[in-house]
Amino acid sequence: MSGLLAGKRLLVTGVITDQSIAFSTAKLAQEQGATVVLTGFGRMSLVERIAKRLPEPPPVIELDVQNTDQLAGLAGKVREHVDGLDGVVHSIAFAPQSALGGGFLDAGWEDVSTALHVSTYSYKALAMAALPLMSRGGSVVGLTFDAQFAWPVYDWMGVAKAGLESASRYLALHLGKQGIRSNLVSAGPLRTMAAKSIPGFDQFEDEWVRKAPLGWDLGDQEAAAKAVLALLSDWFPATTGEIVHVDGGFHAVGA
Ligand SMILES: NC(=O)c1ccc[n+]([C@@H]2O[C@H](COP(=O)([O-])OP(=O)(O)OC[C@H]3O[C@@H](n4cnc5c(N)ncnc54)[C@H](O)[C@@H]3O)[C@@H](O)[C@H]2O)c1
Repeated sequence: MSGLLAGKRLLVTGVITDQSIAFSTAKLAQEQGATVVLTGFGRMSLVERIAKRLPEPPPVIELDVQNTDQLAGLAGKVREHVDGLDGVVHSIAFAPQSALGGGFLDAGWEDVSTALHVSTYSYKALAMAALPLMSRGGSVVGLTFDAQFAWPVYDWMGVAKAGLESASRYLALHLGKQGIRSNLVSAGPLRTMAAKSIPGFDQFEDEWVRKAPLGWDLGDQEAAAKAVLALLSDWFPATTGEIVHVDGGFHAVGA
């Protein structure tokens, strides 16, 4: 098959609805010739139902990134479907309500630690779980929301994203010798389940649409997904530890 990702074997995490950035990523990746294996969290029958909407319904493996047994068993389960991996997509984030929506000053460590475990540490944990399958090198790509600034209501998720951006650079440092790249796509606000669960996230929306030089479509997950695909492809062979903004140019302009 031809296409940007012809012959690539990809593990894509983070599909929960057909609005998920991971869903658009998996769909476009298949259209570009990749073989995709999904992981799903929690509501497995829902993930499996959504997976059937992809052009080629892929296998779905259960993975809670907080579950060390599932992480340890991941490579073996993936190997039942593909003989190795060329790329891994981390499209996972979660923070308890107390850590979001203006709760920054009051959130306790237990809730904050959950946010950091699921949204930050899991990037490294997922990459290491997949490492035995990437003997020929590969590309790990994650999703961030610009952590240079303190945003209203994003609170500890913003701190988790700052950590993710740093973790991606350290992964680039530690896995570069094995030919593994680590890069992030910094997406503007998109109306997914994760975004809708942040009280007041809609505050970003109007400003983003108005201020972004290219404008911004809150329902277009494909723009971010296309950048993920590009970073998974052979067309960024010397790029690692990078953050590519897919935000209509919002990050580049002042008020
Ligand atoms: N939507 C936005 O505005 C936006 C902007 C920039 C970056 N992002 C990032 O994009 C990524 C994907 O989010 P989305 O917006 O597509 O929302 P989404 O709700 O569709 O996806 C979030 C995913 O995280 C998964 N998840 C949560 N806890 C998990 C766990 N313990 N183990 C494994 N998976 C778990 C959920 O099952 C879900 O599939 C996240 O990292 C998010 O922070 C989103």
